[in-house]
Amino acid sequence: MADHNGTGAESDYDRIGGGPAVRAVVERFYELVLADADLAPFFVGVDMSGLKRHQALLISQVLGGPAEFTGRELRTAHAGLAITAEHFGAVVAHLVTALTEAGAPPEVIARVGAALGATEKDIVTQPVS
Ligand code: HEM
Repeated sequence: MADHNGTGAESDYDRIGGGPAVRAVVERFYELVLADADLAPFFVGVDMSGLKRHQALLISQVLGGPAEFTGRELRTAHAGLAITAEHFGAVVAHLVTALTEAGAPPEVIARVGAALGATEKDIVTQPVS
């Protein structure tokens, strides 16, 4: 089985079906985020390819697939967006929904949740008042 993380171990990315499965999850996640009235405004003016890249990177990264970005890039990408913990939680929930619908095993979804939780401090910049 191919690995994309250089460890020789099968990643969650591979376990859920690799590129094709991730593309299906990206499509669904994209629909859910843009259908969410609280989240859609963040993506106004963000070009479509940028949005797709956002989602593909986000999903591949959290699945241990072939995407790489650092905490610094995450902090830079989201600086000034005034994202609250509530927005963050909503994005995570949509990703969990997309993964659940795609048949991802519960332990994979739990790891995704933990990996995303670790990025929260770089992304959430707006305290809830
Ligand atoms: C949950 C973890 C998240 C991860 C791992 C993540 C990842 C990323 C990455 C890697 C980029 C840069 C894409 C690029 O330019 O190549 C980005 C951009 C962006 N993200 Fe996120 N994101 C997350 C959550 C969020 C949330 C909660 C929101 C808003 C509610 C958000 C809104 C945006 C927007 C609007 C951009 C584009 C900024 C611009 O082009 O000026 N992201 N994200």
